[in-house]
Amino acid sequence: MTEAYELECIKCKESYPKDEILYVCRRCGGLLDVKYDYSAVNVDEIDACVGKIGERAALKGVWRFRELLPFSEDVSPVSIGEGNTPLYRCERLGKKLGVEFFVKHEGLNPTGSFKDRGMTVGVTKALELGVRGVACASTGNTSASLAVFAARASLPCYVLLPKGKVALGKLAQAIMHGAKVFSLQGNFDDALRVVVEFCEQENVYLLNSVNPFRLEGQKTIAFEIALQLTLGDVVGGSSERSVQKSRDYWEVPDRVVLPVGNAGNISAIFKGFVELKTLGLTERIPKMTGIQAEGAAPIVHAFKAGAEEITPVEHPETIATAIRIGNPVNAPKALHAIKSSDGYAEAVSDAEITEAQIELARYEGIGVEPASASSFAGLKKLVEAGIVERDESVVCIATGNLLKDPERAVSVCEAPIEVPASVEALKKAIAAQHR
Ligand code: F0G
Repeated sequence: MTEAYELECIKCKESYPKDEILYVCRRCGGLLDVKYDYSAVNVDEIDACVGKIGERAALKGVWRFRELLPFSEDVSPVSIGEGNTPLYRCERLGKKLGVEFFVKHEGLNPTGSFKDRGMTVGVTKALELGVRGVACASTGNTSASLAVFAARASLPCYVLLPKGKVALGKLAQAIMHGAKVFSLQGNFDDALRVVVEFCEQENVYLLNSVNPFRLEGQKTIAFEIALQLTLGDVVGGSSERSVQKSRDYWEVPDRVVLPVGNAGNISAIFKGFVELKTLGLTERIPKMTGIQAEGAAPIVHAFKAGAEEITPVEHPETIATAIRIGNPVNAPKALHAIKSSDGYAEAVSDAEITEAQIELARYEGIGVEPASASSFAGLKKLVEAGIVERDESVVCIATGNLLKDPERAVSVCEAPIEVPASVEALKKAIAAQHR
């Protein structure tokens, strides 16, 4: 653990003490970042992950990287076994594309999305700060994860969801785990605006990704990718690997591709890679590549126009409801991550997302929800456009599980074929399929 940190505004660099409950800079309204004194971080402890030595090897997931988490030694984490997700080598789709292709399956976290990494840190922080409740606005996954962690921590939990636009699996989780769930007449951006004010007025702790502690948990995706590539802890495929190898450094891929909604995750993963480099554990930073749905792509528009700031999309629309967001709160951090890593931003259509979802499911056995498939859809588009080069090593982040949105899956696949209860009838039906 490191207690040597403070909160710092990314814009005007004003700093705030760590026990202050604050989400944006009081002076200029800029986003806050958890700033460490890296000279106080025990790098050898982190590097010991590679050597598989000591107690560190027995620690899995987010808390394995506790030297880079903002807590004192005696903290007891609110944990549900988050992180430590598999990194799949995807040879079939990789060959088709001509890149070395991996998928980091964050949909295999306990609640089915990467949000668990942020929530284990955020809710642990909530208990440390002694708040009286937690809240979030959500397109679904954040609320599902927060509801579970709040239950573990015995904290009251309030959730605001955009009415009629949350996938069934996510809603089921939030309600079942006992959150007070409100269906807001508006979209995610409206819900976020309302919950921010509610938290301020009612002294409830806000756990959307504007809370900088959430991102501290999510940055461990970067640490895990590097560690898994370095140790060869990769699921599937041949052992032949072309990811740049060096005995002195942890390995990183050339590029990381992920869906972007409220833009917290891309900012967090970038921070993780920057920290590994700052500490001398890696040599370079992967090109951070953000993918948005065409109907909700303010960051892509800003990136392509070379603009410093986004212009919010007023009525965002996409079947990928998780990223149906028009005014991403973390846009300044995300644009910085993309630009300074020599990355890219691209938009994909709903049809491209659906095609990518089906390909991941059928070629690689990786079941993801639509938003998550946008990363692979974007990768395909960028390879075709020559922006991703043919020999690159690429990790796509699959952010959420297929089971999150069963209604969408059923609607885009062939319906089951009804047959009478006899082998003859079954054989006849199969034969009819091949005709
Ligand atoms: N993929 C999935 C499955 C998500 O649920 C989200 C965000 C994202 C990608 C985008 O991540 O916001 O960090 O850029 N879901 C939030 C929620 C907004 O409320 O569950 P981001």
